[in-house]
Amino acid sequence: MPKVTYIDHHGMATGVDVPVGENVMRGALYNNVEGIAGECGGALSCATCRCYVDDAWTVKVGGPASHEERELLADVVELDAAEGALARNVRLSCQITMTPALDGLVVHLPAKQFF
Ligand code: FES
Repeated sequence: MPKVTYIDHHGMATGVDVPVGENVMRGALYNNVEGIAGECGGALSCATCRCYVDDAWTVKVGGPASHEERELLADVVELDAAEGALARNVRLSCQITMTPALDGLVVHLPAKQFF
C-alpha cells in the first residue's frame, strides 16, 4: 500500500499507508494525523484540507492546483505579495487521489486550516 508522509508545521513527520483510490485528506483523517480538517468531506467546498506538496512530488500529483481548487484556496490562503498568486505547490489534499506511483508522497501541513 502506498505511503504518505505528512509533515506538520513544526517539522514532525508522520508516515501512514493510504490505499490506492483513497485521497490524501482521508488518509490523514483515518490515521489521526493532525493538521487537516476536511470539513466538507472532500466536496471541494471548504479548503480545510490544504497542504503543500513537497517539491519532489509536484508533477507526480498531477501538477498545480486545478482552477476550482485555486478559486477556493484564494479565499483562505495568504497570497504571495510579489506575484499576487497562490504558492505554486499548494493543493487541496482531498483532490489528490492515491496511485501506486504516489508511494512515498510527502506533503507539508499548514499551522492552521481555519482563519
Ligand atoms: S475537504 Fe473540503 S475542500 Fe477538501
